[in-house]
Amino acid sequence: MAYRHIEVSPVAGALGAEIAGMDLTEPFGNDVFSELHDAFMEHLVLFFRGQTITPAQHVAFARRFGEIDPNPFVRPLELETLPDQPEVLNIVKDASDLSINFGGLWHHDVSHRERPNLGSVLVAREVPKAGGDTLWANQYLAYDTLSEGLKATLETMKAVHSTVRDLNDDQLAANYGVAKDTVNFESVRRAEDKSEKIENVHPVVRTHPETGRKCLFVNRSFTQRFDGWTREESLPLLDYLWVHGARPEFTVRWRWRAGDAALWDNRCTMHNAVNDYAGQRRVMNRVAIHGDRPH
Ligand code: SIN
Repeated sequence: MAYRHIEVSPVAGALGAEIAGMDLTEPFGNDVFSELHDAFMEHLVLFFRGQTITPAQHVAFARRFGEIDPNPFVRPLELETLPDQPEVLNIVKDASDLSINFGGLWHHDVSHRERPNLGSVLVAREVPKAGGDTLWANQYLAYDTLSEGLKATLETMKAVHSTVRDLNDDQLAANYGVAKDTVNFESVRRAEDKSEKIENVHPVVRTHPETGRKCLFVNRSFTQRFDGWTREESLPLLDYLWVHGARPEFTVRWRWRAGDAALWDNRCTMHNAVNDYAGQRRVMNRVAIHGDRPH
């Protein structure tokens, strides 16, 4: 695609592009927005280096892509929104926090809701010297690369997504891909105990409302089981799809610098915040955009 107003440089083979020639502190017209939207549909995750945007400008930028989700909480983890900008979730992990991190599992944001988010804009405020990268995976590719047989099987299947996971520490550790004794699951347990149970059933393969392309829509964080199946029956196939959906060749990895911003499409990508910076502080701000019901 040819771009006249912005510079678009792909970051990885599967998805992700860096956008140059834009200052997100400045309002921009519909001609620029239209190119940005094209790039968003083509690359699924857009990165903007060195943006010193205020929380209000952050919200204004996200609002160009849709209605803001005024309730960005996923679970009642100990995260706050900014006091004077309640649409902005302040994702803080302190140097002393040795627990698991927010978003540290492959997931689509809030897929337990009837209308999971369209996407989000994440801004890095304080980053570790090394570590704390975020990964995204292209779920169009995950679907396209399944066999015709498995595609046909999944075509009519639905899955239950829920805030409440019935997992013991061994299962949690396996889900997070860590050794049980290396992580303190206390904050997850505390959060899940306080969590209101919200559950919704979505198609396993959804059609993107704007591109019309099919993508896989199951994730390790919220998908519990296939609708009408037990969790035990579901797990082998779910596990296959979770691993398949996060194959390295479907991913992009972003090494954050303070001031970077990323916009992602939550309908056709999953993401995972890498928890490899124990002893260092990381602060990110996130604004979520309302989505539609998956079909
Ligand atoms: C998230 O939205 O899941 C958090 C992403 C991050 O902190 O990198």
